[in-house]
Amino acid sequence: PAAVIVAIDGPAGTGKSSTSKAVAAKLGLGYLDTGAQYRAITWWMLTNGIDVNDATAVADAAAKPQIVSGTDPAAPTIAVDGLDAAAPIRTQEVTAAVSAVSAVPEVRARITDLQRTIAAEAPNGIVVEGRDIGITVLPDADLKVFLTASAEARAARRSGELKGKEAADLAATREALIKRDAADSSRKTSPLAKADDAVEVDTTELTLEQVIECVVTLIEGAS
Ligand code: C5P
Repeated sequence: PAAVIVAIDGPAGTGKSSTSKAVAAKLGLGYLDTGAQYRAITWWMLTNGIDVNDATAVADAAAKPQIVSGTDPAAPTIAVDGLDAAAPIRTQEVTAAVSAVSAVPEVRARITDLQRTIAAEAPNGIVVEGRDIGITVLPDADLKVFLTASAEARAARRSGELKGKEAADLAATREALIKRDAADSSRKTSPLAKADDAVEVDTTELTLEQVIECVVTLIEGAS
């Protein structure tokens, strides 16, 4: 059978990563976390002293870091210049800076190229999750899913992923999440948006298992 390409987009905390990984593992597909790539380039900018609010400086440096994504859904990896970046890209510092970096067109062009190459080379197909996959990165995907959830549900889920002190501060998590979604949805280049031909799934009242089941059924119907 031909390789199946699945695009899963949506705001933060809708269960994109958990759903995409589980669906890919179930169907023997690759998995690409495009948010991890934007976080990786953001981490490189921060560690190399680039002012993330200086779009010109970010654009000038956009081609410098080498970013490599491992697409096994059971053990996805992200490396920057040969260093394992899985932990440092999840810090609050990176999370707070990523929307500014990912709004820079030179950054998007570079990361989009990487994403298309990875998708084209996936032997059995791939589940690609992000913000602009269905509209910009893979407009010819076999299936496009747009996941949503209420702000309360998204903040509660994200808070559950964080540890200790960070998890305790649900209100701050909610504020940070809403701010990041607003920035991602309002940027000029490739904003977060639902493709016209994407299937919208509101996950507010669904368990993770139900969302996985739903997406698997949609893929089986599409391929
Ligand atoms: O998915 P995650 O929350 O890790 O994404 C981190 C950030 O990366 C997003 O808030 C957004 O700014 C950026 N991003 C993007 N386009 C994508 C995926 C992520 O701009 N396809």
